[in-house]
Amino acid sequence: MIARPQQYTNVSSLPPFPEGWYFVATLEAVQKAGLIQRTWMGDEIVIWSDAAGQICIARSICPHLGSDLGPEAGGKIVGGRLVCPFHGFEFEASGQCVATPFGAPARSAKLDLFEVREVEGLIFGWWGLGGRPSQWQLPDVPGTGDDWTDLQIRTIRFAGHPQETSENSVDIAHLSFIHGYHNVANEAPVLIDGPRLESRFGFSTTRKIAKFAKLTLHVSATAHVVGLGYSFVEFQERSIGIDARLWVLATPVDGTLIDLSIVSRMRALHAPKRPIAGLSFLPRRMRAPIINKFIADLQIRDVQQDEIIWSRKHYVPRPRLVHTDGEILKYRAYCTQFYADEPRCESSRP
Ligand code: FES
Ligand SMILES: [Fe+2]
Repeated sequence: MIARPQQYTNVSSLPPFPEGWYFVATLEAVQKAGLIQRTWMGDEIVIWSDAAGQICIARSICPHLGSDLGPEAGGKIVGGRLVCPFHGFEFEASGQCVATPFGAPARSAKLDLFEVREVEGLIFGWWGLGGRPSQWQLPDVPGTGDDWTDLQIRTIRFAGHPQETSENSVDIAHLSFIHGYHNVANEAPVLIDGPRLESRFGFSTTRKIAKFAKLTLHVSATAHVVGLGYSFVEFQERSIGIDARLWVLATPVDGTLIDLSIVSRMRALHAPKRPIAGLSFLPRRMRAPIINKFIADLQIRDVQQDEIIWSRKHYVPRPRLVHTDGEILKYRAYCTQFYADEPRCESSRP
């Protein structure tokens, strides 16, 4: 986690917690730590997994007499149960209190839970308007085989809003101006289907690689935005044959700060479609890791460039757009469904 100095404050008139699925932690991190506590969507929550693999996300408040349940207060996992540090009540991953050191627990002693969804080892919790249950699900991701790398994850924290970070999926003009891409173009109209939005665009980019060569990539990208906390982007580099996947997960922390987690995974490059200048003298097995690192660094660099803008910008409700701005107004109409008392967005799929 990289925390930025907070001398700059994003000013947003948008409600801070739009409805949706928001990233909590990786399954690996939960299994390693046993019990994790987070400030998430303005709440203190705890996350753990029992021996059968059931994951629990709960408000970090004991229903007995209100103790905090996080590890710093002394909460711990024993035999797959969360044990409260105050009087030792024990909770199963279902949220039910099943034992106390003093006698049978009240049946009403239950943790306040959030619905859980796991996608590719990434754990999400549902945050519903007024506490209502999930209104839609995150889609499964097309399977990845053994030739895909492990997930690489990096999180940055700054003053921002998930609607503003996700807006970059349709703001194709910024790709050339901030990130220096060329030949940027929409490859299809933006599609909206309830909580899902799909944006397809292409671009080329030339970068130095491994100090001794330049590499030009020609990329087709499809961004699947599913609510404002979850964007999944498929990248296909056409000239060499690189496949990469990227998740951009924006999670409000406390109403001002957001955690932006960038998760990436790439398919190992066995047989490049064209020679890669400067790398041809290397054994084939060494080329893929160099290119994979190159792609990962490129994604992180892009987000760092965006963050400088995001963390200092104001939300402009009536933007003065030009025709090259892409479909920002369509995106903003889509976003209204995630706030209270707003009409649902109609499907634009044929
Ligand atoms: S407050 Fe948790 S067991 Fe009493
Ligand atoms: Fe960007």
